[in-house]
Amino acid sequence: MTNYIMKKIAGLFLGVLVSVSVFAQGQMQEDKAEAESGRNGFSSPDFMTNIDGRQPIPLSGKWMAIIDPVDFGIGSWAAIWKDKTPTGKTDFYEYSFDGLQLDVPGDFNTQLPELKFFEGTVWYKRIINYESKENTRVFLHFGAANYISNVWLNSELIGAHEGGFTPFQFEITDKIKPGKNTIIVRVNNERRADGIPAKGYDWLNYGGITRDVNIIETPETFIKDYFIQLSKDNYETIEGWIQLDGSANSQTVELSIPEIKLKHSVITDADGYAEFSVKAKKLQLWSPENPKLYNVNLTSGTDRITEEIGFRDIRVAGPDILLNGKPIFLKGICFHEESPVKASRATSIEDAQMLLNWSKELGANFVRLAHYPHSEHTVKLAEKMGLMVWSEIPVYQGINFRDPKMMEKLDFQLKEMLYRDKNRCGIIVWGIANETSKNPARDEALADIARRTREFDDTRLVTAAMNNWRMSPSENVARIDDSLIESLDIIAFNAYVGWSNKWPAEPGTVKWEIPYDKPVVFSEFGAEALYNHHGEADVASSWSKEFQEQLYRDNLKMFEGIPNLRGTCPWTPVDFRSTRRLLPKLQDGWNRKGLLSDKGQKKRAWYVMKEYYESKEKNY
Ligand code: GCU
Repeated sequence: MTNYIMKKIAGLFLGVLVSVSVFAQGQMQEDKAEAESGRNGFSSPDFMTNIDGRQPIPLSGKWMAIIDPVDFGIGSWAAIWKDKTPTGKTDFYEYSFDGLQLDVPGDFNTQLPELKFFEGTVWYKRIINYESKENTRVFLHFGAANYISNVWLNSELIGAHEGGFTPFQFEITDKIKPGKNTIIVRVNNERRADGIPAKGYDWLNYGGITRDVNIIETPETFIKDYFIQLSKDNYETIEGWIQLDGSANSQTVELSIPEIKLKHSVITDADGYAEFSVKAKKLQLWSPENPKLYNVNLTSGTDRITEEIGFRDIRVAGPDILLNGKPIFLKGICFHEESPVKASRATSIEDAQMLLNWSKELGANFVRLAHYPHSEHTVKLAEKMGLMVWSEIPVYQGINFRDPKMMEKLDFQLKEMLYRDKNRCGIIVWGIANETSKNPARDEALADIARRTREFDDTRLVTAAMNNWRMSPSENVARIDDSLIESLDIIAFNAYVGWSNKWPAEPGTVKWEIPYDKPVVFSEFGAEALYNHHGEADVASSWSKEFQEQLYRDNLKMFEGIPNLRGTCPWTPVDFRSTRRLLPKLQDGWNRKGLLSDKGQKKRAWYVMKEYYESKEKNY
C-alpha cells in the first residue's frame, strides 16, 4: 500500500477522531494525548528529502498569535474551531488571533518581553491564498517547531509532531482549497519528563516555530527520497536507493552527474523503490581541503530533482580515524544553534555563517552541533566550507529510558535526523547521546540505538559524548568505564578537568586509562570566564580570562599524554544563553564557557586553542 493511500487513510482517521472529540467532550484528555502524540499515525518519519530542490513556497514572515499559558485552546476543542469573529448579536467568543504577531521562523521567547522564559503554548495563525494546480500534490512542511506541534488547516486537525529539531510534513492535497486557507498551529515548549530532551538542559528552551515553514508542490508521482553515497568497497562506485511516492510507482529513473559524464537508469518496483550501484570514475572525493560537491540529477517519467552531493569515505582503523583512507585529527568545536548577537535561536543562513566562520577562524576542521540536529542551513553550509560535522539527537542527560514509550520516541527522533541528512557527506559522525547515566535500561536502549543507526546508515561513524569516567586523585589517573563503548566507533567524552573536576596533582599531569583500541575524542572541555574580567590564573572562582587561558594550556598538556587522542572539541566558541546560569554579574542567564564573549570578543583562551590547531596542522 503506497504512502499516498496510507496518508489518505491516516488523514481520514484523524478527521474522524477529531470530529468525534467535539461531541464526546468527556474524551477530551484522550484526544489531547492522541493529538500530542506526534506520531501522525506513521511508524517512521514521513517527510520528503531535499525540499530546497522543489521551489518551496515560503510562509515566512508575520503570523498572528495567541499566548495560551494554561493551554485553554486545546482543552476546549471548540476554541480552536471558533477561529472566526462574531457575526450575530448573540455570538459568544472570548479570544482572537488579531492581537499579537510573531515572526516565523523564530523562537517566541525573544520576540516579546513577557515570553523571555515562557514554557507553554503559543498559537499561530496564517491565512494564505492558494492557487490550485492540475495533477499537483501539496504538502505543508515544517523545518522544526519546539517541542510539540498540532496543526489545523481550515479548522481540520491534520496532524501532530513531537520533537523540537527535525522536520515534519502533512499532505494537504485534498484539504487545501483554491483561494483563502487558514493554517493554525499550536506549539508547546514545556519540558517533559518523557521528552527528548527531558526536563533539565543547559540552554535556553527556545519555543515556537523555530525553522522555515513551506508549501511544497510535487507531481502526482514524485521522487520522495533517495540515499546516494560512495561505495564502502571502492572509491569508484556510487550506490544507494531511490523511493518514489504516488500511483505510478514503477518507472524508469535516471541518475546523472554531468560533471563526470555519469548516467545510469533504474526501474523502480511496484512500491516505487529501486537500488543502484554505478561506476563513477574520476570522482574528486570530498575533504576539508577540497569540499567538492557535485550536481546530482534524478529524473523520472513524472519528476526531476537536483541536489549538491559530495562523496567521501570515513571509517576507523584501530585508534585512527580515516577520511578517504588518510588518518585525520578532528580539530573541533561544539556549539548551540544560537545567535549570541541576536541572543536568540539561530534561524537564518547568516546566523549559521557567523557560527561557522568563527569555527573556521579558530582553525577547526570539525564542528559538533550540540545537542540536537541543527538546521539544514548549518549542515549544508558546513559541508560547503569543508567542515566535518558531528550531528546528534537530543538524548541529553536525564532521559527516562525506563519509560515504555521511550524506545519508540528514540527511534523516531533518530530516524528523523538520519532521514533528513543522510545525503550530507560533511556529516561523518552520528551522536546518539550526551552525558547519560549508566543503568541497565540506558545501556540497553543506547546499544540498540547504535545498532539501528548502523542498520540505516553504515557509511558514518557512531559515537556518544559520555561522562562516565572517574578520577582517582591518589593515583592522578582518570579511567573511563562505560559498556556503551562496545557499541561505538569513537570513544568520546566530556571532561571539565580543572573546572568541575579538580586537578588531583600538578595541573595537566592527569593520566587517562582508556583500554580500548579505538579513537578517542574529547567532546567537551573548558571553563567559564567573563570577557575583560581579570584575576588570578589559578583561582577558579576568579572567572577570569587568565584562569580560562591557563586551564586550556593545562588541558592541552594533559591531552598530549593520551595515545589514542584523535580529536578535541572545546566547549564552546561563544557564550550562550542558559536558564541554568543565573550567577549575578558573572552569568546573568549566560553560560560563559565561550572562547568569545556574547559580543564575539576574543578571550585569551581563544588564542591558545587557535595556536594548538595550527600546530596540529603541521605535525599530524
Ligand atoms: C555539559 C553539557 C553541556 C553544558 C556543559 C557546561 O558537559 O554537555 O551541555 O553546557 O557541560 O557545563 O557548560
